[in-house]
Amino acid sequence: MPAPKILVFAGSTRTGSYNTKLAALAAKELTLNDVDVTRVSLADYPLPLYDADLDARAGQPANALRLKQMIMAHHGVFIASAEYSASVTPVLKNAIDWVSRVREKGDPTYAAFKNRIFAIGAVTTGPSGGQRSLIALRQILELGCGALVIPEQVSIPNAAQAFDEMDNIIDVGINNFFRAELDRLVEVARLMM
Ligand SMILES: Cc1cc2nc3c(=O)[nH]c(=O)nc-3n(C[C@H](O)[C@H](O)[C@H](O)COP(=O)(O)O)c2cc1C
Repeated sequence: MPAPKILVFAGSTRTGSYNTKLAALAAKELTLNDVDVTRVSLADYPLPLYDADLDARAGQPANALRLKQMIMAHHGVFIASAEYSASVTPVLKNAIDWVSRVREKGDPTYAAFKNRIFAIGAVTTGPSGGQRSLIALRQILELGCGALVIPEQVSIPNAAQAFDEMDNIIDVGINNFFRAELDRLVEVARLMM
């Protein structure tokens, strides 16, 4: 059976980002589950702040097109969000806004968000575990972009104590939940093949 293709990235581009750590762990676990995984960083797709006048005047930036095409080359996407001011990070929201505007010939609207499945998770340094960013991200993806997002979502508080020296999740319950979320992502991604 061919492997589903899943894209993984984080909503933070910060050096030492805990969400990048979560994205790396997701990529590792998915690879062990015989998934064809691609992990990218939004830092590889620098984009200007979305501006409709710029969009109309200069067209979509090449990096918006590249990121849209990267998403469309996969059956599933895992996003490790990060929580800023009870919402998603500006870099993640900006990337989604640009990708949502890119239309190639024959594309339906929001093409990058259709015909693939999304899963989300978050890590925060504080006790919230990024749950508010996940509510915001789910709203953006589902209501804003028409994406399907699986109901499972991992939320990891107290980041500095959350990972062991091998960057695995220490809390057994959270780790089991994370694996169950990834299993569901793979199961639904297979349906998208
Ligand atoms: C501007 C800003 C706003 C933040 N707002 C929140 C917040 O609302 N809730 C929260 O739990 N952590 C918040 N944090 C702390 C982040 O959880 C913490 O910086 C975390 O390390 C960011 O994710 P990263 O490690 O992947 O970069 C905020 C951090 C910044 C810089």
